[in-house]
Amino acid sequence: MSARQIRLAAAASGAALLLAACGAGSDGGDAETTGGGAEPAAGADLELIQDGVLTACSEVPFPPFEVEDADAPSGYSGFDIDLLQAIADNLGLELTIADVSFDALQSGTTLVAGQCDIGASAMTITDERKANLDFSDPYYDSLQSLLVAADSDITGIADLAGRSVAVQQGTTGEAYAEANAPEAKLTAYPGDGEMWPALQAGQVEAILQDWPVNREHELADPDYKIVEQFETDEQYGFAFAKGEKTALQEAVNTELQALRDDGTYDEIYSSYFTDNS
Ligand code: ARG
Repeated sequence: MSARQIRLAAAASGAALLLAACGAGSDGGDAETTGGGAEPAAGADLELIQDGVLTACSEVPFPPFEVEDADAPSGYSGFDIDLLQAIADNLGLELTIADVSFDALQSGTTLVAGQCDIGASAMTITDERKANLDFSDPYYDSLQSLLVAADSDITGIADLAGRSVAVQQGTTGEAYAEANAPEAKLTAYPGDGEMWPALQAGQVEAILQDWPVNREHELADPDYKIVEQFETDEQYGFAFAKGEKTALQEAVNTELQALRDDGTYDEIYSSYFTDNS
């Protein structure tokens, strides 16, 4: 039980004692006037869209961070989702996932519109995004990479002039490609769910995106390989509409630290990652 749950339980039993002392509760008749007498809903002070539910927006699939999974409680799993599920569990909240456009999520549009309480989408913390978003403490270190067919003559970013390269719209990978491969023919796709099939179908010659996702593809299909990685020193954070979810942001940070302290973070991490990232 988390410190927060203990506090909530203590508050609830305090309320019950108070009701008993007032003689209310036997017929329930006075319950309305004494504040309902029920336990406060989990997360009552977190300004959630729906009481007792943590509604998270993500762009899926982005393996191994977010994938559909019929066996998971939310219908999704992956490093981000499992971590957020553990956070939600500790806060006594149910987790619901909405699959949304990454571009609108990273720009702040989706969260500011109130579609979700939190963004959980392998989102890199950047100063630009901080104009519209608040971020949790970082929970994962990442970098960029270039994935091509194993028999491609592309050996790195220096070979991309005139070549067709897929990037995900609104991502740090897109920005990196625009800045460092200005001669490449970039095509922005909504997500990895479109880019990976496009590479496999030969519609593009390369994908420039977060290393762990390209790594997942390289491991799944030996016909493709990462030819270069770019040390961009990125860190992922959970995102919130700027200034609107500070209690939730604080609760998420507290639980993130608790998961690091009790070994749950490492357990989830090692279920998805074996090597250096
Ligand atoms: N880390 C990159 C960024 O923040 C890509 C994230 C894409 N995430 C996703 N779930 N599609 O721009």
